[in-house]
Amino acid sequence: MLTIALPKGRLGHQTSKLLNKAIDGLEELDLSSRKLVLNFPKVSLTFILVKPSDVPTYVEYGVADVGIAGKDTLLETQSKVYEMLDLGFGKCKMVVAGFPHNNSWINKAHRRVSTKYPNIAKSYFSSKGETAEIVKLNGSVELGPIVGLSDVIVDIVESGNTLKENGLVVLEEICDISARLIVNRVSLKTKRNDITRFIGSIEKVLEEI
Ligand code: PRP
Repeated sequence: MLTIALPKGRLGHQTSKLLNKAIDGLEELDLSSRKLVLNFPKVSLTFILVKPSDVPTYVEYGVADVGIAGKDTLLETQSKVYEMLDLGFGKCKMVVAGFPHNNSWINKAHRRVSTKYPNIAKSYFSSKGETAEIVKLNGSVELGPIVGLSDVIVDIVESGNTLKENGLVVLEEICDISARLIVNRVSLKTKRNDITRFIGSIEKVLEEI
């Protein structure tokens, strides 16, 4: 029996499409359900539906053997899990964004960055030898530069619509992001056969795409 942590929301739809193709008997897998635990005894799988940013935590602590998480979440949480597969969906970019022609930002002595990803932002600026005050927000970070809370934001950009509608542009690209399949370190040893079979069936679908 494997327990798998799945992200609700944006990544959920593509995740359930992939799992439906990969495993027979999951036709009833509905990630929009309000139910948090979904059991599929015939295929020996239990799914727990969690907030995307919590997936690595459930996997690191072994409550789930396997999880599907965005690379952004993995970079931010630094969870001790094995990253086994790039699933190729949920593609977006982690960027620094702000108002166009924002040259004052580059030379400013005290710079503020608002973000849902404080660890990613901190390590990005320190890797460049730059300092910045990081302000943690939980959403709608594009508001930061508009209301004067911050000079720029560090955030994910997918279609670019949110930036555009708020008059912001990408100033620097930090890295590419996509959904990853992660595995608990102990489970990989104790449930190696089940995990290998599960990953194998997903890889097969990915090869066909
Ligand atoms: C994410 C992200 C951006 C937006 C980017 O926010 O933080 O705001 O999506 O997507 P786009 O480039 O396709 O417009 P989300 O929708 O998760 O909402 P939130 O701001 O409440 O976190």
